[in-house]
Amino acid sequence: MFKIGLDLGYGYTKGINEAGKRIVFPSLVGTAYNRNLGAVFGGGIDDILENLHIAISDGRDRSEFFVGELARREGKNTSYAFDADKINHPNTRALLAAASVLLFPEEDVPVHVVSGLPLEQYVHQKDEFREMLGNFRVMVELKGRDRVKLIKYNRVTPFLQAAGAVYHAILDDIKGYLVEGSYLGLIDIGFRTTDYIVFVINKGRLVLREDLSGTLDIGMAVLNNAVDKMFTDRTGSKLDIPQLMHLVKQESIFYRGKEIVFRKEINAVKHEIARVIKDRIKIVWGNKLDFFHTIFLAGGGAKQLKENMNDLYNSIRVVKDSQMANALGFLKVAELEEGR
Ligand SMILES: Nc1ncnc2c1ncn2[C@@H]1O[C@H](COP(=O)(O)OP(=O)(O)OP(=O)(O)O)[C@@H](O)[C@H]1O
Ligand SMILES: [Mg+2]
Repeated sequence: MFKIGLDLGYGYTKGINEAGKRIVFPSLVGTAYNRNLGAVFGGGIDDILENLHIAISDGRDRSEFFVGELARREGKNTSYAFDADKINHPNTRALLAAASVLLFPEEDVPVHVVSGLPLEQYVHQKDEFREMLGNFRVMVELKGRDRVKLIKYNRVTPFLQAAGAVYHAILDDIKGYLVEGSYLGLIDIGFRTTDYIVFVINKGRLVLREDLSGTLDIGMAVLNNAVDKMFTDRTGSKLDIPQLMHLVKQESIFYRGKEIVFRKEINAVKHEIARVIKDRIKIVWGNKLDFFHTIFLAGGGAKQLKENMNDLYNSIRVVKDSQMANALGFLKVAELEEGR
C-alpha cells in the first residue's frame, strides 16, 4: 500500500508520503470565494502550499475552503481548530482533505495512513479516530491545478502523537538508544500543547510508561501572542502574521525607520514557557529523571526553546527535522505495520 504519515497539529499540519514528498501548512481553514487566478500560480510545491483552495464533495454536499497560508491571507471567518475534540471539528475534514490531495499518489492504489492523537485522546478516542478516518470518503479538487482526487484510506493506523517522534528520533542509532532498563523521554513542544512521553527499554523493546506521560496546555502560541502584544503596546500598531513571525524569529523589526528590538523581552517569555514545562514535567518524572538515557526535544518549538530547556537534564537532544518528527515517525510506523 502507498504509505502516508500525517500529523494534524493545532498549529500546523505536517505530512510526508512514501515517495518523500513533504508538506507543512498552518492548520487554518477559511470560507472560500472566487479569486482571480492569475500569475500567483507558479509551478512548485511552495506555490501550491501558499494557495490551497480546495473543493470537497461527499456526494451530497459540495463546499470550498481556503486552507493554510491562503486562509491566513485572504480567507473569511478563518479559524484554527482549537477544540479539544479535534476528531469532530469541521476544520479537521478540510485539513485532512487538503493534506491528502497533496500527498496521495497519482495512480489509484490503496493508501495506508498513520496519524496521531495526544495521549489522553489516544486512550479514549483511538477507535473513534480510526472510524472517522476509515469512513472518510470525499472527492477533493485542488482549484487552479486541474487535480481531482478521490480521497479514501484503505488502511488506518492511529498512533500515539509524541511516540511517532520517538520512533523517528532513535532511528539513526537504534542500538545506542535501546539500552536495557534505561528510560527515553521526549518532549514535543507544539503550537498549543506540549506532549511528554516516556519509554522504558525492556527486552530490547520500547515500553510506554503511561504514568510518566501526558499533555500540557502550553505551547509556542504563548510566545506569538506575547510578542504581538509587546509590539502593539510599544507602537500602537498591529502586526500582520508574516511580520509577527519575522519579529519572533529575528527578535527585531524596522518600524517608521527605526529598529525595534525585543531580544530581552522575547528571551524572558521563552524562559517562562520553558520554566513552566520543566516544572510540570519534573513533578511527574520525579527521581526517575536520573535514569534517563536521553531526553529528546521535538515539535516546532524545540529549536526555539532548546537553550532554555538544557538545564532540565544533562543529556538533551533536539530531534532532526523536529517539526516534522511525528509525521516522519508515523511513516516509519506504516512501514513496520506492513512488514508484519
Ligand atoms: N518554519 C516554521 N514554520 C512553522 N512553525 C515554526 C517554524 N519554525 C518554528 N516554528 C514554531 O513551531 C510552532 C509550531 O510547532 P508544531 O508544528 O510542532 O505545532 P503543532 O503540532 O501544530 O501544535 P500542537 O502539538 O499543539 O498540536 C510554531 O508556533 C512556531 O513557534
Ligand atoms: Mg504537535
